[in-house]
Amino acid sequence: MNHKIKSLKDYIFEYQKSVDQPESFWSKIAESFEWQKPWDQVLSWDFEGPEVRWFENAKLNITENIFERHLNAHGDKAAIIWEPNNVNEKGLHITYKELFERTCKFSNALEAQGVKKGDRIIIYMPMIPEAAVAMLACARIGAVHSVVFAGFSSSALADRINDCQAKMVLTSDGNFRGPKNIPVKAVVDEALEKTTSVEKVIVCQRTSAEIQMKSGRDLWWHDAIEGQSINHKAATMDAEDLLFILYTSGSTGKPKGVVHTTAGYMVFSQYSFMNVFQYEQNDIYWCTADIGWITGHSYIIYGPLLSGATTLMFEGVPTYPHAGRFWEIIDKYNVNQFYTAPTAIRALQAHGLEPLEPYSLDSLKVIGSVGEPINEEAWHWYHDHIGKGNCPLVDTWWQTETGGIMISPLAGITPNKPAHASLPLPGIQPVIVDTEGNELVGNNVEGNLCIKFPWPSIIRTTYGDHKRCKDTYFSTYPGMYFTGDGVKRDHDGYLRILGRVDDVMNVSGHRMGTAEVENAINEHPKVIESAVVGFPHEIKGQGIYAYVICDMVGESEEKLNREIIDTVRKIIGPIAKPDQVQIVSGLPKTRSGKIMRRILRKVASKDISNLGDISTLLNPEVVDEIINGANI
Ligand code: PRX
Repeated sequence: MNHKIKSLKDYIFEYQKSVDQPESFWSKIAESFEWQKPWDQVLSWDFEGPEVRWFENAKLNITENIFERHLNAHGDKAAIIWEPNNVNEKGLHITYKELFERTCKFSNALEAQGVKKGDRIIIYMPMIPEAAVAMLACARIGAVHSVVFAGFSSSALADRINDCQAKMVLTSDGNFRGPKNIPVKAVVDEALEKTTSVEKVIVCQRTSAEIQMKSGRDLWWHDAIEGQSINHKAATMDAEDLLFILYTSGSTGKPKGVVHTTAGYMVFSQYSFMNVFQYEQNDIYWCTADIGWITGHSYIIYGPLLSGATTLMFEGVPTYPHAGRFWEIIDKYNVNQFYTAPTAIRALQAHGLEPLEPYSLDSLKVIGSVGEPINEEAWHWYHDHIGKGNCPLVDTWWQTETGGIMISPLAGITPNKPAHASLPLPGIQPVIVDTEGNELVGNNVEGNLCIKFPWPSIIRTTYGDHKRCKDTYFSTYPGMYFTGDGVKRDHDGYLRILGRVDDVMNVSGHRMGTAEVENAINEHPKVIESAVVGFPHEIKGQGIYAYVICDMVGESEEKLNREIIDTVRKIIGPIAKPDQVQIVSGLPKTRSGKIMRRILRKVASKDISNLGDISTLLNPEVVDEIINGANI
């Protein structure tokens, strides 16, 4: 089980082995898992297709590797510690044995409702233990889960349901988030008006909000599990059977369903968790992500539970009821590893040091960062005030598509360098390429980040559209996986991620396609055309700036501004709301009709010193108007 790297020397050795003999490297690691039938071949791959298969023809169930494999050794250990949003409500310690029983009960309930292996199930739930049970039960019976962040709007939810033709939705009545009591079931009801595939909805009672239950379609979670057995025989899954679909934004309008399969994802999420965080058996580990994102999948649920770890799940938000909530929870449970996003760090940093005063944070051994580049100021604040200068900080670079952490220090092993994701994990072969695809070797080089060899949890396809997967990731630089990120290798050979090089923004650690936001804005009846770009934002990392051409007859700018923001909130959700809307009479376009986004990005960043060549524009006069209207 324990393929844990213990020193820098170990890391260098293991890394080299993983490059020289990847198949034997990964098969050794995989051997420590429980398989119903072993594989015939470790890996077959072709990035042309793309077609990647790990542990071919092996049979397994990922939940047997979470439960049956560990129950004897630590059935009574806490698997999940759950901290509710409301400080007056009691938290829960759910042991491995209890989590197993809950998973089995719910697996039986799902089957009793007609769910079969391969069916797609949408999980649209708050951060409550039942959300974890829902994921695990799907995996246990071989249904494919697709978790949708419960902050997405009904139309975003409907798009995802339609794309994967989900048969069932698992949800709750409401969601306690900070001071808010957010309706959840009502959003599902609205979404289901635009879909036809969903047969049943199971509703977990959380807030006791008044909701509508549609007879014949909706049933309560507590009724569904009533009388179900606490035993369940796990489905036999092929190594390459789908484990889950997770939708993420790209540079084109429609979010894509990233597909992960069973065996490779299992092996890599566990291996990366254990090694990056250097988890030790009695540690309490806490990742603050939401299960609606890949970080929640790999590092709240699968990675930790496969490792027999205790994983803390928090329902609330960092600033409720006070700005010290995270630190209070760390002390309350003696958290040893703490993993969060730079946007949360910056938001808490803005509250100063006072909220930290009542807490010792002595239990912390490792602190981590994920989701966006961490700026040096936030890195130092996090390192000095939360890690007290003596906790290694793991800046983990990865993506929904990679399934697990790709480039990161290993805690306490890789020497820390602020704002550098540092070095690749064993098995990961990053390369830096120029725009023509030439590999840039040596140090002190900067370019686009690609990966040239498959790793076990690599994206297999985009659901229902394999060509899209090929076009997005495997065509820009043939023979390589293209990440969409820029990167620099410094004089020490350390990697520093520079951010996206495509039309994808990163807002508070959430990925958002510019086209997706534009499509939403264009739904407003008065909007003629729009262009969205990201701009540097102190707390969010990037903010959203929208330039919009409108039919202004009988309209006020102020009212339109408000309505445009509201339209985006309704179509995608609050996380996609533009921070700035500027009404313009035209957009800078080349003679071939392409919007020159470079200029829009510069204006949005209030950096107009060097706009570059604008002589090729069809309408150069619009640039002055845009600058004047931007209040620079
Ligand atoms: O641009 C990179 C940024 O987040 C993108 C992936 O977003 P998503 O699929 O939503 O997954 C986020 C959580 C893994 C990447 O293409 N990103 C993620 N981690 C880092 C990062 N940028 C810089 N440093 C990181 N540590």
